[in-house]
Amino acid sequence: MKALVLVGGFGTRLRPITYEIPKQLIPIAGKPMLYHVLDLLPRDVEEVVLASGYKADVLERFLEANPPGLPVRCVPEAEPLGTGGGMRNAGDGLSDPFLLLNSDVIADVDVAELLAFHEAKGGVGTMTLAEVDDPEPYGVAALDSSDRIERFVEKPKRAEAPSRWINAGLQVWRAEVLDGIPRGRPVSFETEIVPGLLAKGIYGFRSRGFWEDAGTPPRLLRAQRLLFDAGRGGHAPIPKGALGRGPIAFGRNCHAPGASFGPYVTLGDDVTVGAGAHVENAVVMDRVTIGARAVVRDSILGPGVLVADGLRIEGAVLGPGAAV
Ligand code: GDD
Ligand code: MG
Repeated sequence: MKALVLVGGFGTRLRPITYEIPKQLIPIAGKPMLYHVLDLLPRDVEEVVLASGYKADVLERFLEANPPGLPVRCVPEAEPLGTGGGMRNAGDGLSDPFLLLNSDVIADVDVAELLAFHEAKGGVGTMTLAEVDDPEPYGVAALDSSDRIERFVEKPKRAEAPSRWINAGLQVWRAEVLDGIPRGRPVSFETEIVPGLLAKGIYGFRSRGFWEDAGTPPRLLRAQRLLFDAGRGGHAPIPKGALGRGPIAFGRNCHAPGASFGPYVTLGDDVTVGAGAHVENAVVMDRVTIGARAVVRDSILGPGVLVADGLRIEGAVLGPGAAV
């Protein structure tokens, strides 16, 4: 079995951090979201092909420096080709069937069960579906009583959504679907290709485990909470000399004597948090300095951010090197 992971998006909803870092490398619960996605794959996966594009060089360097323990290969696009175009561009030599993953999906899905379901149903594809309160930002499926998808609508208006079961971004497809995607131009797999494949049988695998698309700041922080609550963020103690409670994950060389933390915090490498400061429900990337008595809540701080003494930050996304 091989897997194709789509990693070429611009991450516009996580700017300004994604001006310099692809969103897949933003750490949540102790490691980049891409590595949590790779954790879902069977350990014996033959190859993981990353359909990359935006910031492909940054991604490739990071993967070389931090091997994820699975055989990965990047296939970058010269121009953004969309989800379908990315599949076509990177899809030569995939297995039949192959796994298709979005790289911002934080989920608890049993992939072995998904593959068995796909095999048993015998369709051209299977989409893992998650049930959400508001399906509007997603691809929405209408199912018949045998879990066959009758209709699929990408990002419908809320009133027009045919159900609350959405494409969870973890799919299985027969290799033949790649032949049906035009080459050399941007193609949305969800809007241009999936509707035409419904006649060949696409089934919905309803997942009841946790699920989140970490593509916006509030959802990224929610994904981090879900991972920590599931024990997938490790069980690190509070940094030496600091107070408060976990869950917390932190990298090398963090100094925070007299600071307080938690719950739900990731600190990268070389982070300094001043005495009397408090950090909660936050992602704090490498080389950040948080001043004494500052408060950082519900926020994502890019690498090298400097927070002044005594400042309160809530609900912020600060780009690399910002000084506030
Ligand atoms: N290679 C490549 N090229 N990858 C891309 C491109 C591209 O041009 N554009 C987006 N991607 C990647 C993103 O990096 C991400 O991993 C995945 O494709 C999906 O893109 P998003 O931008 O995150 O899409 P979305 O979240 O609005 O919607 C998608 O995911 C939802 C679930 O989270 C759709 O697949 C929906 O149907 C689905 O419900
Ligand atoms: Mg997304």
